[in-house]
Amino acid sequence: MRIRDFKMERWQSTYENVVQYNLAESGVHPFMVRELVEGELENLASVRLGYGHTNGTPELRDLISRIYKEQTDRNVVVANGSSEANFVSIWRLVERGSKIALMLPNYMQIWGLAQALGAKVRTFRLQEKNDWALDIERLKDVVGRGTKLIIVCNPNNPTGSVLSTSDMKAIRDLASENRAWILSDVVYQGAELDGSTTQSFLDIYDRTLVTSGLSKAYGLPGLRIGWVAGPESLIAKLWSNRDYTTIAPSAVSDLLARIALKKRKQILERTRNILGTNLPILEEWVSRSGVLGFVKPKAGAITFMRYRLKTNSTELARNLCEKKSVLVVPGDHFGIDGYLRIGYGVEADHLRAGLDLIGQFIHESTVR
Ligand SMILES: Cc1ncc(COP(=O)(O)O)c(C=O)c1O
Repeated sequence: MRIRDFKMERWQSTYENVVQYNLAESGVHPFMVRELVEGELENLASVRLGYGHTNGTPELRDLISRIYKEQTDRNVVVANGSSEANFVSIWRLVERGSKIALMLPNYMQIWGLAQALGAKVRTFRLQEKNDWALDIERLKDVVGRGTKLIIVCNPNNPTGSVLSTSDMKAIRDLASENRAWILSDVVYQGAELDGSTTQSFLDIYDRTLVTSGLSKAYGLPGLRIGWVAGPESLIAKLWSNRDYTTIAPSAVSDLLARIALKKRKQILERTRNILGTNLPILEEWVSRSGVLGFVKPKAGAITFMRYRLKTNSTELARNLCEKKSVLVVPGDHFGIDGYLRIGYGVEADHLRAGLDLIGQFIHESTVR
């Protein structure tokens, strides 16, 4: 199988532990174990380090199922991160020649993977000029008879936008007409700035799988806990796909994930506080920059920044990394030059310092 590099992940893995200011992260500042396990140390020490429940403990699956309407533990399979959740879903649903419609911009994991598996991938876009709403005409163009799967990321990475009810309905109607599945990556659900909860396709369409996890909205990427939720019979099949990947989630992470989901409300409140404090810092910085602009995100610790400079985004991001020790993601990694994805979920002082350095670099390169 020939597979392209997953550019953004390669970029982050290469530089995130080398730079001083990592503004490439899309989740909020992660918790320490200590903050999570207060009062639970004995339970943590008592975890038996066996394989446990390879699809996640019934308690964890039950807690996850409660995030959605009318789902039970049998509608959930736990995975190592949302990335494994996406992987097993695509691996199960896609065959050579499968027709797929994929929303852009997007986290490009499924884009790369589906092509490596031999799928025919057509894309439809969110449009910045309409506050990142769906281009419905294009969607109608790419979804038709024989479309197996429509792939969305909602809330969206990298724009932080959320599909409107009417855009969701348009996707649902086209999927339904063509008996297509919808795979919705909702890993940023729970990180909505206004405290609302992004509606799930699970509530409006039965041939839906949602993939998600604790990495972004919950600030727990190190747990590597993700999941797929959907119809029981398909979830059972995905569990058997996992026999070929990592077999089971870590028993320690399973417990920590249960602890986290029992404190879901407080954790998501912390997330909203971080986002609510940091977004104004970013907005103020953008308004001073003279060359940057963005549509205010609705969810997630990410902004997709347009810039008015002649430099290519990869070159700009590389210069920021090498000359100012600040890591951001170039728009090129989402197939859209002229943008940078800047994460703002880090600690406020760290954000200010990183942004100042980006500002300095832009100033130095425009004045010269
Ligand atoms: C939309 C989306 N899905 C999945 C992932 C993978 O996340 P994880 O495997 O850490 O849960 C990411 C990471 O950036 C993402 O942005």
